Amino acid sequence: MSTDTSSEQRIQLRLGSEAATEELARKLASALDEGCVVGLSGRLGAGKTVFCRGLAEGRGVDPREVSSPSFVYLQSYEGDSGPFHHADLYRLGSMDDAAIEEAIDGTGLQHVLGAAGLAAVEWWEFYRGPVPQKLVTVEIAVENPEYRSIELKFAGQGLQRALDAVS
Ligand SMILES: Nc1ncnc2c1ncn2[C@@H]1O[C@H](COP(=O)(O)OP(=O)(O)OP(=O)(O)O)[C@@H](O)[C@H]1O
Ligand SMILES: [Mg+2]
Repeated sequence: MSTDTSSEQRIQLRLGSEAATEELARKLASALDEGCVVGLSGRLGAGKTVFCRGLAEGRGVDPREVSSPSFVYLQSYEGDSGPFHHADLYRLGSMDDAAIEEAIDGTGLQHVLGAAGLAAVEWWEFYRGPVPQKLVTVEIAVENPEYRSIELKFAGQGLQRALDAVS
């Protein structure tokens, strides 16, 4: 059966450990095509970086190399299956729209979103710019110290394989 993910589809999951979150992200990343963007949101300490480590692993990047790129906004890695870009927009939260656009321009983020490889962006809610054609948004809510409720939304063509991989 094939479902068109050009209209948005959602999955809600409840995960009880950091390892489970990483595993979900690993499966997702290995089923995503080139040019996909994963936009993550959730409060400080929700698990966005944990999720990005799993994504990195799914693209053949050593997850131990991945940390929050808070002071550089954007870090790129060369994985077995192409580049993996990891951005963190936390610092944009205190800026106005004009400053946000300038900061995004300055990082080169716009050039990697939708380009070769996979891009993961923490604090996606602060992003301003064209909406990527293939976008998976990941919203992480903290239930208690171990449990996270994670909502994945798939918007764009060609995301069916990824949706199946995490369903
Ligand atoms: N089910 C879970 N999934 C993910 N992380 C979990 C889970 N349970 C506990 N944790 C813990 O939550 C923390 C998540 O930290 P992480 O750095 O990934 O958060 P973050 O959302 O990136 O925060 P920040 O906004 O500061 O970048 C880690 O200490 C991790 O061990
Ligand atoms: Mg983080």
